[in-house]
Amino acid sequence: MARGSSNAYDAHTNPLGMVSLGVAENRLMHDEIAAHINSHLSITKRCLTYGDGSVGSDQLRQSIANFINRTAFHPRKPVEMDHVTVLSGVSSIIDCLAFSLCEAGEGVLLGRPTYVGFISDLVNRAGVKPVLVDFERRSKSVHPMSLEAVECYEIALVESAQNGTPVRALLLCHPHNPFGLCYETEVLEAYLDLCAKYSLHFISDEVYANSIFASTDFPSPPSFTSVLSLDIKKHINPSMVHCLYGMSKDFCSNGIRLGAFVSQDNPNLHAAIRAISKFAWPSSLADAAWCGILTDEAFLQTYLETLSERLSAAYEHCIALLKRHSIPYVPAHAGPFIWIDLSKHLSSHSVEAERELAWKMIKNKVWLATGEAYRSERPGCFRITFAVDKAELELGIQRVVESLS
Ligand SMILES: Cc1ncc(COP(=O)(O)O)c(C=O)c1O
Repeated sequence: MARGSSNAYDAHTNPLGMVSLGVAENRLMHDEIAAHINSHLSITKRCLTYGDGSVGSDQLRQSIANFINRTAFHPRKPVEMDHVTVLSGVSSIIDCLAFSLCEAGEGVLLGRPTYVGFISDLVNRAGVKPVLVDFERRSKSVHPMSLEAVECYEIALVESAQNGTPVRALLLCHPHNPFGLCYETEVLEAYLDLCAKYSLHFISDEVYANSIFASTDFPSPPSFTSVLSLDIKKHINPSMVHCLYGMSKDFCSNGIRLGAFVSQDNPNLHAAIRAISKFAWPSSLADAAWCGILTDEAFLQTYLETLSERLSAAYEHCIALLKRHSIPYVPAHAGPFIWIDLSKHLSSHSVEAERELAWKMIKNKVWLATGEAYRSERPGCFRITFAVDKAELELGIQRVVESLS
């Protein structure tokens, strides 16, 4: 990330700079969010204090609960303020969860490919081991998001325990990063059953919950099913089920740093996170900015509609460019990125060849997230963020194409 940002492309001031299409940053609604904050946020004396403490103001926690009750999550039982703990980003929440739920050396299941940040969130402080789940190792490969794939999680868990790493949790990214797809309800229920069988915590990272869009690939995209909307009790002790949300993605505000831990039946876990929350204390200014947005009903209504429309338009533009250059991709309906397949341009079917191509692109001043970072089982896959300025996306894809020859 630093490599790109130290020499970031700018059409006017740095046209030879790095076009960054490698970070999941949705830039399509920056103007609207910036304008809302600029016109609504005033720095009160309260913003200069510790406020209500280190896990978000009461007003923010209530506003997040209200937002979850009213939007894509459709919780089965209404979310209340006490079900919500706020820290400085979802990354901080995963770090605190790893520290609170596991001993160092214990494992958390992650299906491949996985959002790269999960690895450092689990490992860096808590010393928790990512237990990667393979789907292509068997005689017949299965789709990582299918019902059949749930069995692969069980195989990985049993093998991991036999090798001395007991598994404590399953961390799912839903909608999926990097595929940009939603899981089906029956698959989510199968995960709950698996977690119940082995006493695992089920953590559903739903940070892209309101970034669902239609396209020519998915004229009627499947609706998103939050874990909060399921009849959890039928499957597992509800104290083992947790949902994560944040401001970074649906609110195009990666830099504001706010994330929410939502768990409706585990006050002890909220207390455990609170005990270490001082190190990820959300800023009172950031808190006030998100509160202002979440309590502005009229703004929210238009905002979420426009977000979805802009994602549709940017996605269409991106897939048109990919098709023009015969680049295969996984059709998506959620999030700001697309998983593309450049394997036919590798000098060999290997991670080394993927690295070689990634370096060629970097030298050609375009940066995509690599399959290797995402622990992809197939060399040659990359994740491209399409929710960026149109001209910049065109230039970025042009630079990718130039790197392929
Ligand atoms: C699935 C997922 N979870 C969490 C994060 C990080 O969230 P935050 O900016 O709130 O730390 C990302 C960022 O790319 C993500 O894709």
